[in-house]
Amino acid sequence: MVSIKFLTLKDMSLEGKKVLVRVDYNVPIKNGMVEDDTRLKATIPTINFLLENHCKIILMSHLGRPKDLFKKGKSLEDVKKELTLRPVAEDLSELLGMEVAFVEDCIDIDIPEDKEVILLENLRLHKEEEKNDVEFARKLAGMADIYVNDAFGASHRDHASVSAITKLLPSCAGFLVEKEVKELSKLLNPKRPFVAIVAGAKADKIGALKTLAKKADKILVGGLLANTFLKAKGYDIGSSKFDEETFAVAKEIIGLAGKKLILPVDTVVADKFDNNANIKIVNTNKMPKEWMSLDIGPETIKNYENELKDAKTILWAGPLGVFEMEKFSKGTREIGNFIGSLDAEKIVGGGDSAAAVQSFNLSDKITHVSTGGGASLEFIEKEGKLPALVALENHYNSSKE
Ligand code: 3PG
Repeated sequence: MVSIKFLTLKDMSLEGKKVLVRVDYNVPIKNGMVEDDTRLKATIPTINFLLENHCKIILMSHLGRPKDLFKKGKSLEDVKKELTLRPVAEDLSELLGMEVAFVEDCIDIDIPEDKEVILLENLRLHKEEEKNDVEFARKLAGMADIYVNDAFGASHRDHASVSAITKLLPSCAGFLVEKEVKELSKLLNPKRPFVAIVAGAKADKIGALKTLAKKADKILVGGLLANTFLKAKGYDIGSSKFDEETFAVAKEIIGLAGKKLILPVDTVVADKFDNNANIKIVNTNKMPKEWMSLDIGPETIKNYENELKDAKTILWAGPLGVFEMEKFSKGTREIGNFIGSLDAEKIVGGGDSAAAVQSFNLSDKITHVSTGGGASLEFIEKEGKLPALVALENHYNSSKE
């Protein structure tokens, strides 16, 4: 275990209290329906424990990145329509077998007196959340007696609902956060060989590669990150998505990781981002103009399996292609099945890779499926000292003074 100390639910006197629980319900929602409820299910032990202790539970979460939509000029009303947590309240009601009341905002609201479980609207509709604003945190804290962080997936963010708030209420970690810290600690002193797969659609994972370049024996790359590395190496990647902002870091990592860094040698390219697109398998240095890379190719699958076969610890963070579309699911499915068949500590990090594990029925073949993508990578990068965990630790230290 990392040496990070925080209070847990069992340390708190909870009976009959109003408890504000930060969860990470940043889940895929399509046509008003939650597509993957792994993150919801993961918080149920904490919710049930609080119910057993006759607590009133106020759940709060972010959903998506409203800031990006505001930047595109969308109005608050439109962003709210797109990124409302209302469907999550419905899904959670079904999972818990009881009503989860939804409240249209997260601050300056009347909390229904007669409801046991309440879900507040998306915290990030208020820009103060991401600014770790103390006044915003104070408004949240004003609704409850105790604060619980069960949002492991958002614990790498220094935001008001996971950080500033710990200065304002007696604060502890929920069961999910406790379990994540225990399991992910295994990656800090891994059994070797330690192979990490870092892929998916988020560019900000690249920071963790600097640490993995030192810690892991091999790093296999896919998705947007792979495109960014390929482009940084001077390959023509057609119209594949890549991240210009992390180019310099990508170059630095190519130098740092040397032979540990393994990139795709072939790829499935498509003429549009659609399951009905025309597709071809090409070498990664020969991607045709106006075609985009949406999955790893068969040679790459073989190479990656070869790198994985003797691993004793595997971290899998991010799907290798757009697995949600059948045409581009092969890389993620085959690598997922292969990992599932191995005898190793197998840790999956991330909302999207967790969804892949679920859709390919691999859950019982994986040691631990983390609910955090960026958070699980930063956990390694920062040796467990994620901002929200440090905030809980500071709270723990001050409660002992
Ligand atoms: C995630 O999905 O990784 C977490 O919910 C954090 O979301 P963020 O990257 O938008 O902060």
